[in-house]
Amino acid sequence: MTRRLLLVLTLWSGYLSCGGEEGTLSQPQVRCRAFRYPVAVDCSWTLPLEPNSTTATSFVATYRLGVAARGESQPCLQPDPEAPRCAIPDIQLFSTVPYVLNVTAVRPAGARSTFVPFVPERIIKPDPPEGVRLSPLSGQQLQVWWEPPQSWPFPEIFSLKYWIRYRRHGAMHFRQVGPIEATSFILKSVRPRTRYCVQVAAQDLTDAGESSDWSTPAVSPMALGK
Ligand SMILES: *[C@@H]1O[C@H](CO)[C@@H](O)[C@H](O)[C@H]1NC(C)=O
Ligand SMILES: *[C@@H]1O[C@H](CO)[C@@H](O)[C@H](O)[C@H]1NC(C)=O
Repeated sequence: MTRRLLLVLTLWSGYLSCGGEEGTLSQPQVRCRAFRYPVAVDCSWTLPLEPNSTTATSFVATYRLGVAARGESQPCLQPDPEAPRCAIPDIQLFSTVPYVLNVTAVRPAGARSTFVPFVPERIIKPDPPEGVRLSPLSGQQLQVWWEPPQSWPFPEIFSLKYWIRYRRHGAMHFRQVGPIEATSFILKSVRPRTRYCVQVAAQDLTDAGESSDWSTPAVSPMALGK
């Protein structure tokens, strides 16, 4: 963790300990994710202590690159001031300083801010692959096909790699294969006349960020390998 990042976190925890009237207002809990890297980073938030107050609340979301106070603040783009989400466009790639998002909940009773430092490459998490389908081949083999998530803008430039997990119908445990850099794979030695459940997950080829959630499962036909 950089010293600047520590400074931000210290400032942030300073905010948390503010007493008085502000203590009764909850701070936005913010989460940012880059599922359409490098086009934008998308952030969303909730007010954990006030689930029903969002109609009376508006939000101001701004960000800057780096934590220096004199850095220029830019608006994080919200569809409207009540929307609990925003998008940061035009991400600077491979920045050596973190972005800092400032989400302020504004209510008649007062305002509370949350600061979220992040580096875009570390919060990459693609959506799951789509269109997973299976075709049985001869010789107890099962071919798996899929497409990159549609939300991933440039799969030719920012390539993804994939993992497959599969299990027999009724089996307890998955088997996993990968990483695979293609968008199809042949599972070998599958049992004849057995239904298989297959899912695929995607991750940035360079290991940036984390892997996607597993795709919706594809299920092989019963008569496989008959
Ligand atoms: C919030 O609203 C829901 C439905 O409108 C209601 O069931 C719930 O009791 C409310 N919670 C609070 C804390 O007011
Ligand atoms: C965070 O945003 C609020 C609302 O725009 C602003 O009043 C506050 O000064 C900002 N805090 C920092 C540290 O930039």
